[in-house]
Amino acid sequence: MDTHTVTINAAFLREIKDDDVQLKTLLEQARAICDSSALADISASRFTKLLADLRDHLAMHFALEEAYGYFDDPLSVAPHLSEQAESLRTQHGQLYGELARLAETAQDISRRDSDPRAIRNLARCFMEFHDRLQQHEEDENELIMEALYVDIGGSG
Ligand SMILES: [Fe+2]
Repeated sequence: MDTHTVTINAAFLREIKDDDVQLKTLLEQARAICDSSALADISASRFTKLLADLRDHLAMHFALEEAYGYFDDPLSVAPHLSEQAESLRTQHGQLYGELARLAETAQDISRRDSDPRAIRNLARCFMEFHDRLQQHEEDENELIMEALYVDIGGSG
């Protein structure tokens, strides 16, 4: 009998998201650089620093979410919520790994000759990562809404 169930504490998870202004700021800065013609003027070392800051901050953000927003529940209440929660929690490690690799690539580029083509390519990869992270955040927000709805007595 499978009693392993992952669930969320919707109120805490929402609070962690609402309070994390810095994550939004860092993401916005990185996106602004990648999105615009500013990329031509940006130094590889500045982009490298930004990606490293974002990586470190994302590690903290995910750690907080996992410590307070997610928990393993011995009782299965709503299986579809649990599956979704488990899948979203697993994405943390994947997203972090992806960003860590991008930050490492940025460091390599800035250590060598800061080839503009390599920077453009990195920016494109970052935007793909950014979209996946946004999707993750949206899915978590949806899960929060769904869990709150179940809590106040909806049919689920
Ligand atoms: Fe998350």
